[in-house]
Amino acid sequence: MKGSLVSALAALVAVGDVAVATPMTPRDDALAYSPPHYPSPWMNPAAEDIKYAYDRARAFVSGLTLPEKVNLTTGVGWMGERCVGNTGSIPRLGMRGLCLQDGPVGIRFGDYNSVFPAGQLSAATWDRVLINKRARAMGEEAKGKGIDILLAPVAGPIGRIPAGGRNWEGFSPDPYLTGVGMAESARGIRSAGVIATAKHFVGNEQEHFRQAGEAQGQGFDIDESMSSNIDDKTMHELYMWPFADAVYAGVGAVMCSYQQVNNSYGCQNSKLLNGLLKDELGFQGFVMSDWQAQHTGVASAAAGLDMTMPGDTTFNSGDSFWGANLTLAVLNGTVPAWRLDDMALRIMTTVFNTGLEPPLPEINFSSWTLDTVGPIHASVGENVEVINQHVNVQSDHAPLIREVAAKGTVLLKNEGGVLPLNKPKFLAVIGEDAGPNPRGPNGCPDRGCDDGTLAMAWGSGTSNFPYLVTPDQALQAQALEDGTRYESILSNYQNAATRALVRQDNATTIVFVNADSGEGYIAVDENLGDRKNLTLWKGGDELIKNVTSECANTIVVIHSTGPVLLTEWYDNPNVTAILWAGVPGQESGNSITDVLYGRVSPGRTPFTWGRTLESYGTAILDKPNNGGGAPQDDFSEGVFIDYRHFDRATARNPDDADAAPIYEFGFGLSYTTFEYSDLQISGGAVREYTPTEGETIEAPVLSEDVSTDPADYQFPTDIRPIEQFLYPFLNSTDPEKASRDPKYGQTAEEFLPPGATDGSPQPLLRSSGQPGGNPQLWEVLFTVSVTITNTGDVEGDEVPQVYVSLGGDDEPVRVLRGFGRVTVPPGESVVFKTDLTRRDLSGWDVEVQDWVINEHEKTVWVGSSSRNLPLSATLEFDEGTYE
Ligand SMILES: *[C@@H]1O[C@H](CO)[C@@H](O)[C@H](O)[C@H]1NC(C)=O
Ligand SMILES: *[C@@H]1O[C@H](CO)[C@@H](O)[C@H](O)[C@H]1NC(C)=O
Ligand SMILES: *[C@@H]1O[C@H](CO)[C@@H](O)[C@H](O)[C@H]1NC(C)=O
Ligand SMILES: *[C@@H]1O[C@H](CO)[C@@H](O)[C@H](O)[C@H]1NC(C)=O
Ligand SMILES: *[C@@H]1O[C@H](CO)[C@@H](O)[C@H](O)[C@H]1NC(C)=O
Ligand SMILES: *[C@@H]1O[C@H](CO)[C@@H](O)[C@H](O)[C@H]1NC(C)=O
Ligand SMILES: *[C@@H]1O[C@H](CO)[C@@H](O)[C@H](O)[C@H]1NC(C)=O
Ligand SMILES: *[C@@H]1O[C@H](CO)[C@@H](O)[C@H](O)[C@H]1NC(C)=O
Ligand SMILES: *[C@@H]1O[C@H](CO)[C@@H](O)[C@H](O)[C@H]1NC(C)=O
Ligand SMILES: *[C@@H]1O[C@H](CO)[C@@H](O)[C@H](O)[C@H]1NC(C)=O
Repeated sequence: MKGSLVSALAALVAVGDVAVATPMTPRDDALAYSPPHYPSPWMNPAAEDIKYAYDRARAFVSGLTLPEKVNLTTGVGWMGERCVGNTGSIPRLGMRGLCLQDGPVGIRFGDYNSVFPAGQLSAATWDRVLINKRARAMGEEAKGKGIDILLAPVAGPIGRIPAGGRNWEGFSPDPYLTGVGMAESARGIRSAGVIATAKHFVGNEQEHFRQAGEAQGQGFDIDESMSSNIDDKTMHELYMWPFADAVYAGVGAVMCSYQQVNNSYGCQNSKLLNGLLKDELGFQGFVMSDWQAQHTGVASAAAGLDMTMPGDTTFNSGDSFWGANLTLAVLNGTVPAWRLDDMALRIMTTVFNTGLEPPLPEINFSSWTLDTVGPIHASVGENVEVINQHVNVQSDHAPLIREVAAKGTVLLKNEGGVLPLNKPKFLAVIGEDAGPNPRGPNGCPDRGCDDGTLAMAWGSGTSNFPYLVTPDQALQAQALEDGTRYESILSNYQNAATRALVRQDNATTIVFVNADSGEGYIAVDENLGDRKNLTLWKGGDELIKNVTSECANTIVVIHSTGPVLLTEWYDNPNVTAILWAGVPGQESGNSITDVLYGRVSPGRTPFTWGRTLESYGTAILDKPNNGGGAPQDDFSEGVFIDYRHFDRATARNPDDADAAPIYEFGFGLSYTTFEYSDLQISGGAVREYTPTEGETIEAPVLSEDVSTDPADYQFPTDIRPIEQFLYPFLNSTDPEKASRDPKYGQTAEEFLPPGATDGSPQPLLRSSGQPGGNPQLWEVLFTVSVTITNTGDVEGDEVPQVYVSLGGDDEPVRVLRGFGRVTVPPGESVVFKTDLTRRDLSGWDVEVQDWVINEHEKTVWVGSSSRNLPLSATLEFDEGTYE
C-alpha cells in the first residue's frame, strides 16, 4: 500500500501546490499532466563559459553559513528595499542584497533614464547588431543605477495569440527570430556587466487567468491559475526554442511564469525546470520566480527554483515559503543541503561570471518614490535618508533609440511613390495618436491608459519617459525646415474641422491611429491586459474612413502592440501608404519622421496581418472552462501559430481569400527594389550525431559539519528587525513554532516524489551536454549564399530571409531558419550568407527524446518575405547523414 500511496502522491506534487496542501485530493485524470523529473540537476563544473566563475563561487559559497546561503535565495519582501526585487545581504562579507529591476524597455520607476523601443519593434529591424546594441545600452543604464539583474528579455509570451497583452515586450511569434532576439539581448545586457533574465518560462501566452487572485479581483470565480497544456514537440520546436538560444548565449537568470503548464505551476514544475531547462538545456544560471508565482516551499526547491521573488508568500504578508522555512527545511532534511548549495552556487557563479564583485556597487535610486529623501524600507516607511541621487544614465542612447524605432517601422503600402515625402506643399496630421497625453508622458501609472501617442504599452514592463517626442512635434519641425504648410488636429473626434482641413487642395494627410494592451493587473477600456479585439481603438477605423472620403492622399500610421485589422480600408485607393510603427519609445516622432522622409530604410513585419481575428486560429481564453478549477488552455494548434498557421490554411485551401493574410510575416516595402540571384549552398558532409552519454558528478555539499540544532539559527540580538522583512533566522527553538506552519512536520517521503533528494550521480540525457543542449546541435551543416542586387535608384536595406521545408506529415510548410539585414547602394550587389545548423534542420522526436533530422527531402527557400521566395534548392546530404 505504501508504495502505491507514494507514487500517487508523487503525481499529486507534480500537478500543483494544492496537491501538496491536501495530498488526498484525487487528481482529475482527464486533465493534462506533467511528469515528475527529479532530482534537480546541480551545476556542471565542465560547462562552457563558467569555469573561472564557478571556482570562485564555489570557494565563496563554501565559506557561507546556512542563513547566509538562504539569504541569497530569498527576497526581503515586497517594497522591503529600493529595487522591485532585493535578496537578503551578507553583511559579514560586505555584500549587499542583489538588486533586481524591471524591465524590457528600460529601467522601471526611475528618472533620468531612457525608454527604448519595445522588443517587438526591435525584432522588426531584423538587425542582430542593433538588437545587441539596444540591449547593451539598456544594461549600461541599469548599471549606472546600481541594478545587478535586469528583468529582460522576454520570449514568453512569444505571441501565440495576436491579442496577447504582453506580446510587445517580446519579439515575434516566430521562434527563430525571437531566439536571435533573446541571444543578442542576453549578450548585450551581460556585456554591460548586468545579469540578464530570460522570462517568462514558459507558456505565459495570455494575461487572463495567469494568476487566480488577479482573476478573482476581475470577478472570475476560479481558485487556481490557468494551465497552458503544451505537448512535448510543440514545447521544443516553438515555446522553448528561444529560451534555448538564451541559454546557449549564456543568459544568467530565467524567470518562471505565473500560470501552470500541464496543471503544474510554472515555478514548481519539475519537468520544466529540472527536466527541460536544467537537465536538457544545461542551464547553469539560476531560476527566479515571477513576483508571487511561488506556491510552495520544499516542493518548489525540489522542482528547481533557486530564488523566490519578491520573497513573501503574498505581498507584505511577512511570511515566506523560504527564508526561515528554507533554513528549517535544510535543518530537518526535507531539502537536502546540496540543493541549497546548488541554489547559492548558481547565483554566485552568475554574479562573478557577469563581472559583479562583492561589495557590489551602490544602488542610487528607489523604485517607490522619485523624492530625493525617503525610506529605504518603503513597505514600512523606515530608514529615511537620501535614496534618489537622480543619476542621469541616458548617455548617448537617444540616437540609437531613434534608429532602432525607425529601422523597425514597417512600410506596408506605398502607392505611386507617395513616400518618401519631399517638401510636401501642405501636410495635415490627424489623430490623437500624433499628440501628447494631456497628463504628460508619464501621467498614467504604469502607462495604464491610451491617451495621446502610443509610445509605450502598460504594465510592469514600463519605464518613465525622460521626454517623449510626439509625431506632431517632429513632423512640424520638419515642415518648418522645408517651408511646408503644416496643420494638425490631435483628436479623433473633431469631425467637421478634420474634414474641412483634409479636403483642401493638395493635402497630404497623415492619420495616426493605435491599439494598446498590457499586463493583466491593469484594465484599460475593459481590456484586461489582453486586447478584447483586433480593431483600432478610439474610433480609428471610422476616422480613417472619414479622412479618406475627403482626401485622396491619406497615409496611415499605426502604433500598436501587435497586428490590427486593416481589412476595411487598406485597399481603398485613397489610402496611399500604411506604416506600422509598433511601440517606439521616447524618440517616436523623430523615428517616424526619418522613415516618412526616406532618411532611414524601414523594417519587415515580425508577425502576420490577417484579415479577421478568426483567421489566426488562436484566441484568448477569456471564460473559465473548468468550473472553479484552473482554466484549461489546450495549445492544440501545436506549432501552427502565425505564418505557419496561415501557410497551412493556404496550402489546404488556396481559394479561401479570408484565410490568407493581408500582409504576410516578413513582409515590408523599401524605397528601392531588389533582385535575388545565384543561390548557392555548400556543405552537407554531415558527421553522425552522437547522443550524450554518461553521468553527472555527485551533488557537491559545500559546507561540512553544519549544526542542525535550531538553537544555532535564532534571530540575533544585535539586528533590529524590520516589520514584514524576511530573514533566514528562526524565532523559536521549536521548529514548528519557528515555521508558523500548522502542517509543519511532513517528511520528504510524505510529499516529495521518489528521487527528489537523491544527490548521487545521475544519468545524462542524450539531448543534453552543454548550455543550449547537445553541442552538436550547433554544428553548421550547410552555408547558404545569395546575391542581392539593388535595382532601384536609392540606397536601401534588404532583409533576406531563408526558410526551410523540413518535410513530413503535419509539419509547417516552411520555417524561418536564417535572415540578415544588408545595405545595398543603387545598382550594386552584395552576397548574403547564412549558416544552417543541425538544430535548424531537425525536429523534436518525442519517441527518441532528441532532435532528429528526418528522412524527408529538405528544401531551402530564399527571398524577401515568407511568401515571396523567388529562389529555392534541395539540400544534398552525403550518405550516412540521417540519424
Ligand atoms: C505536457 O503533456 C504533454 C501531453 O501528455 C506532454 O507531451 C508534455 O511533455 C508535457 N509537458 C510538461 C512540461 O509537462
Ligand atoms: C540576511 O539579510 C538581511 C537583510 O539584508 C540581513 O539583515 C541579515 O543580517 C542577513 N543575514 C545574514 C545571516 O547575513
Ligand atoms: C512558512 O511557510 C508557510 C506556508 O507553507 C507559511 O504559512 C509560514 O508563515 C511560513 N513561515 C515563515 C516564518 O515565513
Ligand atoms: C521541514 O521544514 C519545512 C519548512 O518549514 C516544513 O514544510 C516541513 O514540514 C518540515 N518537515 C519536517 C519533517 O520537519
Ligand atoms: C550610482 O550608482 C553607480 C553604480 O553603483 C555608481 O557608479 C555611481 O557612482 C552612483 N552615483 C551616485 C551619484 O551615487
Ligand atoms: C495643387 O497642385 C497642382 C499641381 O502641382 C497645382 O497646379 C495647384 O496649383 C495646387 N493647388 C494649390 C491650392 O496649391
Ligand atoms: C475594440 O476595443 C477597443 C478598445 O477597447 C474599442 O475602442 C473598440 O471599440 C473595440 N472594437 C469593436 C469593434 O468593438
Ligand atoms: C465620421 O464621420 C461621421 C459622419 O460625418 C461622423 O458622424 C463621425 O463622428 C465621424 N467619426 C469620427 C471618428 O470622426
Ligand atoms: C477619395 O477622395 C476623393 C476626394 O479627393 C473623394 O471624392 C473620393 O470619394 C474618395 N474615394 C474613396 C474611395 O473614398
Ligand atoms: C522574528 O521576529 C521578528 C521580531 O519580532 C519579526 O520581525 C520577524 O518577522 C520574525 N521572523 C520570523 C521568521 O518569524
